[in-house]
Parts: sequence; C-alpha cells; structure tokens
Amino acid sequence: RTPVIIDCDPGIDDAIALFLAFASPELEIAGICAVAGNVGINRAADNAARLAQLIGVPETVPVVRGHAGPVARVRRLPDEPVHGAGGLGGVDLPEATRPPHPGHAVDWMAEQLERRPGEFTLIALGPLTNVAALLHTRPDLRAAVREIVLMGGAAFAPGNVTPAAEFNFYADPEAARYVAETGVPLRIVPLDATRKALTPLEDAQTLERDGAPVTSAAGRMLRHLVERHSARSGVAACAVHDALAVAAAVQPDLLEWTEASVTVECTGEFTRGALVADVHQRTGQARNALVATGVDAAAFRELLLSRLRRYSRQ
Ligand code: BDR
Ligand code: CA
Repeated sequence: RTPVIIDCDPGIDDAIALFLAFASPELEIAGICAVAGNVGINRAADNAARLAQLIGVPETVPVVRGHAGPVARVRRLPDEPVHGAGGLGGVDLPEATRPPHPGHAVDWMAEQLERRPGEFTLIALGPLTNVAALLHTRPDLRAAVREIVLMGGAAFAPGNVTPAAEFNFYADPEAARYVAETGVPLRIVPLDATRKALTPLEDAQTLERDGAPVTSAAGRMLRHLVERHSARSGVAACAVHDALAVAAAVQPDLLEWTEASVTVECTGEFTRGALVADVHQRTGQARNALVATGVDAAAFRELLLSRLRRYSRQ
C-alpha cells in the first residue's frame, strides 16, 4: 500500500476524490489536510471533516487545517460559486463530531515526513499553498517526500479560469511554481487529462439511486457538476478533476505520462498561473515532472464507479 497524505479544498471533485481514495486498498491514507481554494479555509476544513465522518474515517486519521490563502500575496475567493452552496453542490452533510485537530497542516505534514522519511506520496488537490510552505520552511524534508501527485495546470489545453490558467495554479501561482522547481518528484494531472475522462450523468444517477449515504451524496454532487457543465457545453457529463489525480496515485498506468521540464508563469499579464511544460527540451532545463497528457477514460470511469459502489448498501 502506498502511504499518502491528501491536501485538498473540498470542493465537489475533492469530495469524490476522497471517496475514491478511502475506497482504494492500494492507498494507506495518513491524514487529510485542508487548504483555502474552492472555499475559504474554515469551510474547507469543515467540509473535509464532514466528509471524513460520512466515510467513517477513524479519528486516528486526522483532518488538519492549513493555510487561509496564498502566502505570497492576497487573493480573493472566486465570485462564482462553481461548487454550489457550501462548496459541495448544496449537499448538506451532518456536522462533524470529531474534535478539530489543534495543529497546522504544514507542521503535521512535516511530522509525518520526519517519522517515515521517503515513504509518503503527497496528493495535492487544491492550490499548492500548504505544500509550498512545507517545502519552503522545511527544505531538509524535500528528500523525505517520495512523490507529489497533483491536480493542476493546463499544459496544452485552455485554462478554466483564464485562457491560460487552471484554477489551482491560478489561485496560488507562486506556490505552484515553488513546488515545481523544488526538485521533488512530481506527477502533474492537468486539465488536458481530466477533460478526457468524463463522468456521464448516467453514473451520477446510478449512484444517487443507490441510496447509501456516501453513494447518494456522491451522486448528488456529481449531478450538480454535470448540470453545470451541460448548461455550458450541452454535454451531459463532467470532468472530476481531483478524482483523476487520486486514480493516478492508485493506478498510474491509467494515464499516459510525458516527461517535461515544467514551471509556472507568475508575472504574465494574460498568462499568470499558466503551466509551462517544455516537452521538447527547448529551455535545456532538466526534466522535473511527469505530465499526464492522456488517459484511458473507460478504465477510469469503471474504476471510479466500482470503487464508489463499495459504499453501497446492496
Ligand atoms: C481544480 O479546481 C477546483 O475547482 C477543483 O476542485 C479542482 O481541484 C480544477 O481546475
Ligand atoms: Ca480541488
């Protein structure tokens, strides 16, 4: 089993990613860290705790609150509630009864890495503020991270916040760039891959009909995303970005990986937050990441649905 720490900003697709992760015996999840992104930090930490409770995550696997926004500058939260009321598509989950973890996500991650150097994969599903802060404040622990698997960026596809930038990178470009340039082994799952692995309305409905607490919550959240996406594109299906990043940690060969030298644009007037992937070695910089450019969409659909069905009552 791969020991992992999940850093997230739930967020519907973060929620589905957590459901997938906790239904995957390939992963040993040490804890969930929260970061501001889709929603503010209080909401992100509270949503993560509610989701953990819904899943039945034991209290030995903590939910730890992290940064309230970029360290490098001030950022406003998105005006448009992409993830619906409360960040989880209006799905109201029971309040978490576990006591809030007293520590900070960055310190907690550092403790885990100190305890088990070289073992952990960090799965980052939100802006990279916590991860960058960890690698910045504890450079001695960079070598202790086995790999970072992150959802972010748009390598060759258009962005989803600006024409050039994807949300997680746009939300904290300095952090994304910092993480990219630390030399920690990196697998990046950008929009290029996630947009090729759509979840159809039918799967959302199947899950919703199931009626068990996790499956029906997953179904309702996915339906929210599908409806939002189909209103724009006419296609009754949606990308579940963060779940694909978890799938990449569970089964890396589901995706096609291209080695590249990557960085993130932090100053461009029109391109701030853009992932710059040099696949043809134009810059002469050493390759520092594997970028997912393709995916076996049918296999991902099957993996996601079958794993979510493990929460089923039937
Ligand atoms: C990413 O941005 C967020 O809205 C999602 O949770 C995902 O992590 C996709 O661009
Ligand atoms: Ca996210």
